[in-house]
Amino acid sequence: LSYAALEKERTLAMIKPDGIRGNFTNQIKHVIVQSGFVIVHEMMLQLDVRNVSLFYSEHSEKSFFPNLVEYMTSGPVLVMVIEKTNAIADWRALIGPTDAGKAKVSHPNSIRAMCGSNSERNCVHGSDSPQSAAREISFFFGEISPGIILHDEL
Ligand code: TYD
Ligand code: MG
Repeated sequence: LSYAALEKERTLAMIKPDGIRGNFTNQIKHVIVQSGFVIVHEMMLQLDVRNVSLFYSEHSEKSFFPNLVEYMTSGPVLVMVIEKTNAIADWRALIGPTDAGKAKVSHPNSIRAMCGSNSERNCVHGSDSPQSAAREISFFFGEISPGIILHDEL
């Protein structure tokens, strides 16, 4: 085992509006902690069209993009920085596949199977690579992200 394999890693986890609305927050945080992650930072906020367009800019040309923006702005989200060894891959494995409907069959113990509905409403987000994790953590928790409205301020 190399030293790098033991080093702690951080990733961005998000409970999306359907997860918050369905009251899955405590259950999801319980799974996070039980799985050996430490929640390093957390923040509840309301995203606007501009925030979602920047966060999901890689998908801006996709046909599902308008629907994604509507979904992600439909209510508050909880963003968290979570930490453990191999956090990025382990959190992606824990949330399960993008399509929560399929996850209910193929990955019944995954978080998306627990609280999601389909490929458009899948209740949680996880960074997909070290590059994404760095970008997404600084998007929310870097120096004052412009345009981010804290839920407390609404
Ligand atoms: P993607 O990055 O492909 O999935 P993941 O969240 O697993 O990294 O897509 C980002 C989000 O876009 C996804 O969580 C929900 C939405 N989406 C749709 O609404 N429809 C789709 O067909 C896909 C692939 C994604
Ligand atoms: Mg993705």
